Amino acid sequence: METKLTRLLNIKYPIIQGAMAWVSDAKLAAAVSEAGGAGTIATGGRESSWVEEQIRLAKTLTDKPFGVNIMLMAENKDEIVDIICNEKVSYVTLGAGNPVPYFERLHNEGIKVVPVVPNVKLAKRVADKGADAIVIEGSEAGGHIGSISSLSLMTQVIPEVDIPVIAAGGFADGRGLAAALVMGASGVQMGTRFYASQECTAHLDAKVKIVNAKDTDTVVTGALHGHSVRGIRNAMTDKYLDMEKAGAKEDELLKLVVGTSRTAPQEGDIEWGMVQAGQSLTAIKNIKPCSEIVDDIITEARKAITNAQIYLR
Ligand SMILES: Cc1cc2nc3c(=O)[nH]c(=O)nc-3n(C[C@H](O)[C@H](O)[C@H](O)COP(=O)(O)O)c2cc1C
Repeated sequence: METKLTRLLNIKYPIIQGAMAWVSDAKLAAAVSEAGGAGTIATGGRESSWVEEQIRLAKTLTDKPFGVNIMLMAENKDEIVDIICNEKVSYVTLGAGNPVPYFERLHNEGIKVVPVVPNVKLAKRVADKGADAIVIEGSEAGGHIGSISSLSLMTQVIPEVDIPVIAAGGFADGRGLAAALVMGASGVQMGTRFYASQECTAHLDAKVKIVNAKDTDTVVTGALHGHSVRGIRNAMTDKYLDMEKAGAKEDELLKLVVGTSRTAPQEGDIEWGMVQAGQSLTAIKNIKPCSEIVDDIITEARKAITNAQIYLR
């Protein structure tokens, strides 16, 4: 299946595994790349040495293109950029800050630059400044989110930019990929679907929590203070939202959430940790190998696009 994205990244299928802090490491990224998509190593919260180790490990697991995500609020972001430039990964996704100052250096090393953006204004800005592609991430997504849904972003961003657009947030199957392609996107980025994969090294309890959850099970914490995070409702999120309603101060709320994006996937603390996940949970019914996930998505997308031909009659 060829699109502007598959040509840009030299991959077989237009599916990116979105970076997931404390979840997507070399093993997951390599498995998705081996399956024909593009896997992304998440660096948020990680030591620079871990990032270097994981990039080198991924290279031993696949000779296919894979990427690295940089959280631009990370203190060690410049060290991570140095490592990425030395290791020359295929692409970089960047979010949570201004990615433009990093474009020239990454481009000089032959690395494709793919910012993650939540609205039309930022999409146009990074496209004007030379981004190779963009991820538009809707509010259905797991993790840190903006306020606009994936459909509204696809409707409004795609006609405004000339670079490949990758839609993210709430995509978990082949019909979603088909819909995004019909909207004019060049591919999709999925996070939660790959969290519940066999190769994902996150704690099994967190993966099972995703499989057992349904469409209405996510909540958003942090919205009042401008750092909205979507995850599966549990004891921690109930307490957080109760405290927020009661007018708790920002630092009290922060105390409750600090470290929780790590403790759920790394320690299996699914009640007091945060199992970040997107809204399309009913569609995720099992923990499968990445190759099966990707193959099923492509088969279903082809079928959906074929079936849609009836509307041309
Ligand atoms: C557990 C988790 C952690 C995430 N961490 C990051 C991150 O570190 N950097 C980033 O750019 N996006 C992050 N995201 C967003 C994903 O890359 C992706 O855009 C999102 O999961 C897409 O929505 P979906 O979960 O509905 O598929 C995270 C998402 C999840 C579920």
